[in-house]
Amino acid sequence: MDEQSFRIEIRPAEATQLDLLESTFDPDSLSRDHYRRYEKQQRGDGIYLIAWHDQTPVGHFLLLWSGPHDAAVMDAIDITNSAYLEAGATLGRYQRRGVATAIIQEAERLAKARGCTHIGLEVGSTDNPDAKRLYTKMGYVDWGGGEFLIQWEYHDKNGQQGIETEMVTYLRKPLV
Ligand SMILES: CC(C)(COP(=O)(O)OP(=O)(O)OC[C@H]1O[C@@H](n2cnc3c(N)ncnc32)[C@H](O)[C@@H]1OP(=O)(O)O)[C@@H](O)C(=O)NCCC(=O)NCCS
Repeated sequence: MDEQSFRIEIRPAEATQLDLLESTFDPDSLSRDHYRRYEKQQRGDGIYLIAWHDQTPVGHFLLLWSGPHDAAVMDAIDITNSAYLEAGATLGRYQRRGVATAIIQEAERLAKARGCTHIGLEVGSTDNPDAKRLYTKMGYVDWGGGEFLIQWEYHDKNGQQGIETEMVTYLRKPLV
């Protein structure tokens, strides 16, 4: 890929793009995660931000106006005006080109414009050092409240269904 011509645009997801997002990012999943994230946008809970390189969706993050809703964090922090980023990923062949950085910067701009005072996210406490390094470099600081377990459901094309778990920590950044 020619670095000179690598341009991305970041836009809210649209209904007509959801099948393309499913087949591009999660071809083996039946969980319809992109549809669920779009529904949150439609409910007014946030914006599902998609990075496009020409006609190809290359990365995504779901920006929520408030979160996370995990008890460990909510018991300790007032999340009312704290935006929350989840479901972040960049297609493998487009990684390390600034896609996630650009989406997060756009999310921070939107959250601040909305009146949020902070923005946060959860990241694997030990199993995702690359992502953690990126967030730390962007000014996100570990909340100091320790790690906690999150879980989510999956449903794949082979008929496998179940619950996945991950130990995560919460990082937060003031929107000044
Ligand atoms: C974590 C993830 C979203 C990062 O996406 P990305 O688009 O590769 O992120 P960026 O390119 O903005 O930044 C990644 C690194 O590339 C560097 N980089 C940015 N632009 C670059 C460029 N043009 N050339 C080389 N490196 C570059 C960044 O400085 C950063 O460096 P670091 O590793 O020292 O922190 C991606 O790796 C991913 O999808 N991982 C799998 C899913 C996942 O773990 N999601 C996060 C859950 S919390």
